[in-house]
Amino acid sequence: MGQRYVRDDRTFTHLCLVSRALGATSIHLQDAEDDLAKTVSEVDRAWGGEFRVLVGEPWRQVMKEARAEGRATVHLTMYGLPLQDRVDEIRRQDKLLLIVGGPKVPGRVYHESDFNVAVTSQPHSEIAALAIALHEIQNGEELKRSFGKSRLRIIPSERGKKVVEY
Ligand SMILES: C[S@@+](CC[C@H](N)C(=O)[O-])C[C@H]1O[C@@H](n2cnc3c(N)ncnc32)[C@H](O)[C@@H]1O
Repeated sequence: MGQRYVRDDRTFTHLCLVSRALGATSIHLQDAEDDLAKTVSEVDRAWGGEFRVLVGEPWRQVMKEARAEGRATVHLTMYGLPLQDRVDEIRRQDKLLLIVGGPKVPGRVYHESDFNVAVTSQPHSEIAALAIALHEIQNGEELKRSFGKSRLRIIPSERGKKVVEY
């Protein structure tokens, strides 16, 4: 969420792919190219899973609905408390909405989020912050997740590329 000076479709695509690969069920984007949801559903068809991309819902509405579903809201910001100090409490929540911003996040997000947490107190990237938070919150368990039925599957190998097509 938050204001962008220019729409950054590459960042949006990476936020979708990272969320999908690291165990999120869906992503809400304020603004994205029309084809993004389609591109990500093609990734699902090829590689498995049912990740959802929702575009255009105002952030207040997204947060309101999350709260109504019993999700705790976790805003990732370099100004927050260290993730490592809050992660145990975050892990105890049933369901989560993680929030990352663009260059300028509305002040109300800081007040309305249940947690404001920092992945180091240094400026870096929403994609990196999201990836590390997903990894820490799930204790690395997301690395072992199966994506179910898929058209393509990688056979992990030390060298070369082994892909089976079903
Ligand atoms: C270009 S950064 C803007 C940095 C911003 N001033 C902030 O509040 O973290 C865009 C987004 O990356 C995420 N981010 C950047 N650095 C972070 C950090 N150290 N910890 C957590 N999130 C971070 C935040 O979600 C932020 O809204």
